[in-house]
Amino acid sequence: MLNVRHVTRLFGQKAAVDNVSFDVDRSMMIGIIGRSGAGKSTFLRMLNRLTDATSGEILFEGRDVLSLRGKDKRAWQSDCAMVFQQFNLVPRMDVVSNVLHGTLNRHSALRTALNLFPRDDIERAMDILDRLGVGEQAPKRAEALSGGQQQRVAIARALMQDPRVILADEPIASLDPMNAQIVMDTLRRIHDEDGRMVIANLHTLDTARRYCDRVIGMRDGRIVFDGTPEQLTTGVARDIYGADEGFSEAATSTAIDTISDAPIPA
Ligand SMILES: Nc1ncnc2c1ncn2[C@@H]1O[C@H](COP(=O)(O)OP(=O)(O)OP(=O)(O)O)[C@@H](O)[C@H]1O
Ligand SMILES: [Mg+2]
Repeated sequence: MLNVRHVTRLFGQKAAVDNVSFDVDRSMMIGIIGRSGAGKSTFLRMLNRLTDATSGEILFEGRDVLSLRGKDKRAWQSDCAMVFQQFNLVPRMDVVSNVLHGTLNRHSALRTALNLFPRDDIERAMDILDRLGVGEQAPKRAEALSGGQQQRVAIARALMQDPRVILADEPIASLDPMNAQIVMDTLRRIHDEDGRMVIANLHTLDTARRYCDRVIGMRDGRIVFDGTPEQLTTGVARDIYGADEGFSEAATSTAIDTISDAPIPA
């Protein structure tokens, strides 16, 4: 379904992503973990074509994603919607208009600027907001919502594109634990109910273990672990996060402390 082959991204001499390869044969929820600077965001951005790869190949159902241009590239970007840590909503715009902007690729810029959206789209946006438990927030300005609510609105905007894949770059890094759980539950539910693939960059091991079917660990641009949550032992975690220069012992243990007592969902 998804084949990533020898993907590399250089910034100057430095490889932010270094010869990354993996295959995904069915829709699943994948967590990418690794410390700051490991290359997680750069990888997601290449997958979505926000950043160009220096070399390598990414195939989605046999189609070479990295060579798409123009209309085909935009269609792919709409097939793999991005969700960001900072939500990236338009703060002063109402919630439902923010969600309708998920159809941007399908409408002219003028219609969008004038907020002239087809009735069907408005109804669909409302249905999606209801589904994610934020329907009542629809008329409010995005900035008036809590972080967790804003992230659900951002996910609703992504769903408006009816994507095959949802790419989430640290979707809960700005949220308190309760909202973090609501947002992760939402992503998991979207995967389970709709069959959409979810690939999420996550800061903590605990979250990756709780929610993902497969975990990929990156370090210095390379994949150093690729397996199930059960295979992610404390030793492996130490390998991913490292304990060397630039990353304190304390931070390493915080990242991996949670591993032993985190229940793994059946
Ligand atoms: N536009 C850029 N120009 C130069 N270097 C970059 C650029 N974007 C990323 N890098 C470098 O590439 C490496 C990987 O960065 P990336 O943002 O992908 O890491 P990350 O794993 O997402 O980290 P974090 O957990 O902090 O978000 C880092 O060394 C970073 O400084
Ligand atoms: Mg990042």
